[in-house]
Amino acid sequence: MRKVHFTETVLRDANQSLIATRMPFEKFEPILSTMDKAGYYSMECWGGATFDSCLRYLNEDPWERLRKIREACPNTKLQMLLRGQNILGYKHYPDDIVRLFVKKSVENGIDIIRIFDALNDVRNIEVAVDETLKNGAHASGTICYTVSPIHNLESNVKLAKTMVDMGVQSICIKDMAGIMGPQEAYDLVKALKENVKVPIVVHTHCTTGLGPITLQRAVDAGADVIDTATSCFSGGTSQPATESLAYIFRQEGYEVDLKEDVLREVNAFFKPIQQGYLADKTLNPRMMMTETEALTYQVPGGMLSNLVAQLTAQNNLDRLDDVLKEVPNVRKDLGYPPLVTPMSQMVGVQATSNILAGERYKNVSKEVVAYLAGEYGKAPGEVDAELQKKVLGDRKPITERFANTLEPGFEKAKAEIGDKAHSDEDVLSYIAFPPQAEAYFDKRDEKAKNSFTYSIRKA
Ligand code: CO
Repeated sequence: MRKVHFTETVLRDANQSLIATRMPFEKFEPILSTMDKAGYYSMECWGGATFDSCLRYLNEDPWERLRKIREACPNTKLQMLLRGQNILGYKHYPDDIVRLFVKKSVENGIDIIRIFDALNDVRNIEVAVDETLKNGAHASGTICYTVSPIHNLESNVKLAKTMVDMGVQSICIKDMAGIMGPQEAYDLVKALKENVKVPIVVHTHCTTGLGPITLQRAVDAGADVIDTATSCFSGGTSQPATESLAYIFRQEGYEVDLKEDVLREVNAFFKPIQQGYLADKTLNPRMMMTETEALTYQVPGGMLSNLVAQLTAQNNLDRLDDVLKEVPNVRKDLGYPPLVTPMSQMVGVQATSNILAGERYKNVSKEVVAYLAGEYGKAPGEVDAELQKKVLGDRKPITERFANTLEPGFEKAKAEIGDKAHSDEDVLSYIAFPPQAEAYFDKRDEKAKNSFTYSIRKA
């Protein structure tokens, strides 16, 4: 009997997709020891936007959050999402920082690191993969799923093989926009199973309504692990429901390790939290609805709503159709980057500008200039040579890995933040999100000072 494994995402992607990662540690702390007994393959609980959100909005030390989850869940593999050479942000960091970040993530409790690059440029994940393996953790290589004339089964299989040669122990198909159809999932998983020996993980979102069927077909084709969220935090922009998918696969005769009574307990715990977020409007009901427009335009839901917001703010919403028609043209000029952050924003802004200025590439953002200069990595396809020449002039685009051009950065940052950082972990927080981390350190010191004065007075 074949087994289907489940990664529970309520603490990371579901939290991020539905309520902008606003769930503080103390809200979910009481359920952690129960979740530890559910039989998940892993719990995705860190990385992605959780780190930024801890420092920026929740006044929490992200590293401490990780250590506390580790302590409460000794039997479950803890998983994080890492953007390769960008760590958790959007710029490229030097290798010493990437290595230390990975090392400290593992030291503080992470077992599995899902590593991706927005352009699927493997040079941008190789250092993170290498360091993950050196520290004895599981490196999951990621295919950012996208549809274009140059992306096909062959290119995806080639990418997977390259990552397996690097040493990754699983391959994750990451469909960030929820646009991978059931048949596409079936064909891709089947092709991967025929060509690589490692387990295949499938990650999607319910945004367009395809999610549960896509996962079902992916498993039929041989997928080993699927990402799901406890039912009250599932659906819409989040993942398909853990309980429903477990039900489906049991009915179809697959072996499922999840304990039904524990899953019920977990969901019963999160239900009032979900209700609270609905009541205080942290959770917008629109996030839980099905939006099929992404299928028509082949752009992620988040990108579409950004375009609408941008055009509305400029009183130009009537140009939306023109902008949507321009998106694939810009994407072609840029060599078909996957529409994932930050490329989705860059392509969206450029398409809007091309339409509203009445002239293509009259204005080019500094991000697009950097992209054309090779600073984000290698474009999946050919970039438009004329555009590149127009933007860069005599400057030659770099062809080597951008991080090769960066000086080591940890010691410099450590000196810069000084005593405010109490550990190497603090320095890494500062490197990832400088003003947010510094503000957090100040509040932490203030709090420690106050409690010190208080205890002296009491004495
Ligand atoms: Co996701």
